[in-house]
Amino acid sequence: MSMKMRHISSQRVNQIAPSGIRKFFDLIASMDGVISLGVGEPDYASPWHIREAAIYSLEKGNTMYTSNSGMPELRRELSRYLKNTYNLDYDPETELLITVGVSEALDLATRAVLDPGDEVIIPDPHYVAYDSCVILAGGIPVLVPTTEESNFELNASDIEVKITNKTKTILIGYPSNPTGAVMSREKLSKIADVARRYQLLVISDEIYARLVYGVEHTCFATLPRMKENTILLGGFSKAYAMTGWRVGYAAASKEIIAAMTKIHQYTIMSAPTMGQVAAIEALKSGEVDIAEMVAEYNRRRLVIVKGLNKIGLPCFEPKGAFYAFPSIKGTGMTSEEFSERLLREEKVVVIPGNAFGQCGEGYVRCCYATSLAEIEAALTRMKRFVAKHKKL
Ligand SMILES: Cc1ncc(COP(=O)(O)O)c(C=O)c1O
Repeated sequence: MSMKMRHISSQRVNQIAPSGIRKFFDLIASMDGVISLGVGEPDYASPWHIREAAIYSLEKGNTMYTSNSGMPELRRELSRYLKNTYNLDYDPETELLITVGVSEALDLATRAVLDPGDEVIIPDPHYVAYDSCVILAGGIPVLVPTTEESNFELNASDIEVKITNKTKTILIGYPSNPTGAVMSREKLSKIADVARRYQLLVISDEIYARLVYGVEHTCFATLPRMKENTILLGGFSKAYAMTGWRVGYAAASKEIIAAMTKIHQYTIMSAPTMGQVAAIEALKSGEVDIAEMVAEYNRRRLVIVKGLNKIGLPCFEPKGAFYAFPSIKGTGMTSEEFSERLLREEKVVVIPGNAFGQCGEGYVRCCYATSLAEIEAALTRMKRFVAKHKKL
């Protein structure tokens, strides 16, 4: 007897769309001579000493699982790093969890704290995984618009009007992917005030914390009385050019880390051993590498922002991450149309801003973690494209 399945995928999965970023990579796979400002990852290989530490560890046969929470040495180094960088005290035994990138940490954080129907406040535009993770965890994303006019910063007052008795969490990520916006301490403090007043937990994705240009990054957990109410997420992918190693972390109260570890131990077991060994080396000796890469990203940032403005794609100045988010409204095209036609006509990949939420419509994300020569060549092609299509 055959049983006919009406719905193979679950309602939760049906609610989320495939990532609008990946679609473009499928498209370019078949094309030659493409310049990509698409994928959001460093164009550097991980620094040699980091690779070497992992190779040496492999040679010694260090290929087993680690503790569920992550290697004790890595947690100790991380605890020291957070103390030195932010003067925050996290107990390496109970308040840190090593994850498979911030990707896993986001999934764990949302699943660990949300009950069905809980609402989560998220800025729009936002990193593609935020709303999907919330939906997969049974929660409801509540988007708060941010605008170019206010530098894509999130206003506490705009959050407050969205709060209901179902609101559980605020999920933010600054420096921002896709806009490159950085929030000032003052503005974050106002969000912390709201979080305290309404007893909301804050999930703060600070994966780009080290990639800031001429401004300071404020760690949300350093705001008054926020450490105990913040799940701080951080990683190695961006600052140390370690995307493929798949390591990240969560720092939070003992109760929250215990809840996240419960899920992690059954679904993941432990983050990759090799990646953890590399992360220890990164924390011990990676500062020089970060300084070098940040200086180079900054050079590229200045070139791309100036270039985009010059060719008629107005671009606010991003102070963090490695993204420029110019407006393409002057072309009269939608973000998707612009991105698809730019790829077909000039072979330049940018990501349509609406892949990051409705407020991203009218913008495209250009990742400048690529060589200056490529950025300049992309700008030349984009100039030609804009001149051809600009609506006067
Ligand atoms: C804002 C943000 N959070 C998290 C991630 C995931 O990073 P990881 O490689 O640590 O999983 C990314 C990757 O692009 C990102 O941009």
